[in-house]
Amino acid sequence: MAETARLSVNGVDLDLPIITGSEGEKAIDVASLRAKTGAVTLDPAFMNTASTSSAITFLDGEKGILRYRGIPIEELGEHSTFIETAYLLIYGHLPNPTEKQKFEFALTRHSMIHEDMKRFFDGFPMTAHPMAILSAMVTSLSSFYPYALDAKADEYRDITIIRLIAKLATLAAFSYKKSIGHPFMYPRNNLDYCANFMHMMFAVPAEDYVADPVAVKALNLLLILHADHEQNCSTSTVRIVGSAQTNLFASISAGICALWGPLHGGANQEVVEMLTDIKVKGLTAKQFIDQVKDKKSGVKLMGFGHRVYKNFDPRAKIIKKACDDLLIKLGIKDPMLDMAKELEEAALSDPYFIERKLYPNVDFYSGIIYRALGIPTQMFTVMFALGRLPGWIAHWKEMMEDASTKIGRPRQVYTGPTLNHYVPLDKRA
Ligand code: SDX
Repeated sequence: MAETARLSVNGVDLDLPIITGSEGEKAIDVASLRAKTGAVTLDPAFMNTASTSSAITFLDGEKGILRYRGIPIEELGEHSTFIETAYLLIYGHLPNPTEKQKFEFALTRHSMIHEDMKRFFDGFPMTAHPMAILSAMVTSLSSFYPYALDAKADEYRDITIIRLIAKLATLAAFSYKKSIGHPFMYPRNNLDYCANFMHMMFAVPAEDYVADPVAVKALNLLLILHADHEQNCSTSTVRIVGSAQTNLFASISAGICALWGPLHGGANQEVVEMLTDIKVKGLTAKQFIDQVKDKKSGVKLMGFGHRVYKNFDPRAKIIKKACDDLLIKLGIKDPMLDMAKELEEAALSDPYFIERKLYPNVDFYSGIIYRALGIPTQMFTVMFALGRLPGWIAHWKEMMEDASTKIGRPRQVYTGPTLNHYVPLDKRA
């Protein structure tokens, strides 16, 4: 007997089907609700609403579990590379040796951008935020690959995915070079994805550059940890934009804009700016925590709290350890890491945070690693976008390939004036 939920509304008794996910989570299917009762559900910020079913990522906020296509993030962080993990998310399985070689070869061969796109950078001021540049550039890619405009054209989907993953690293590095007035460094075909990105970011024409393998390994780990996170704000944005059969470039550009928000991907930049502000003001961890607890201050402990994780964010635990290891290996002593640890210790023992189940999230320590890699604060959210790109693509592709996909169009509860009439200008108060 199929499991149902009994609902009585507007004088109608309704047995709504209950859907059970592969990890046993339950969902009430309300698809027939309005047609049968005239009522809709109301759930601001979708705190209790599943917008879709998906086979890509599973996370359990209470148990601190995160798995890509069933594989725990801890195993991927230890054994995989970012590009292999990207393939897993997008195509649903770890690539065999031939698939891996072809994917990596294609990414290498499509990492340059059209020479005309380079001139777009001339139009931006040096002070332009790289997220603004990135979203503009990604949308503009559709001008150079017009057949990608047809989102339903299966034959162009794989090459468009390759171009986007390959070129986003180049566009990100070029936006950094633009901000410091350095010449663009073209990608090199003899380097893997992360080493190539470090080369494009930090090499200069005047001398040879070899990326530190320790730094490349740390970058691979960070990008793996950011690669997907089920229906977060930016992924939901990619899905709703893509549900109109919008092409991949424009859908991803919308995701970049959503990620830019300080409550979402922008938090990694906010964390480092918060730690800098604490240092400049000479505050102790306790003094800052007291400010956060005073609602009137409007101050948040950025990098803490999460809509889903009401326990440790498993990514934060991995990043914190990677932070310690990297700074030791690179011989860097960063006082910001010490302050971050003091803040974490103070918060985790304070009732304000304990009662609200606020723990460090993925953004709390990631900025400190980016700093150690020489990446400037304004580029932190760009790094998040680089990591999240495979997840966004996987969700867009899953939706495009689902024949039941319909355009996303939520309902509302209207609270405005009832019937009203036009008042001529000379009759208004
Ligand atoms: C990401 O969704 C995802 O999966 C996102 C992400 C991904 O991989 O895609 O994990 C990436 O975006 C991580 C989150 C990065 N953002 C931050 O670190 C910004 C700081 N955190 C908060 O703004 C907040 O915790 C959110 C936005 C992350 C979650 O907000 P919710 O779920 O809407 O919770 P809330 O704001 O209603 O907070 C509940 C309570 C409130 O206090 P009360 O009104 O109950 O008294 O906790 C308080 C909040 O004021 N609170 C905080 C706090 N976060 C929540 N108080 C101080 N500092 C904080 N950081």
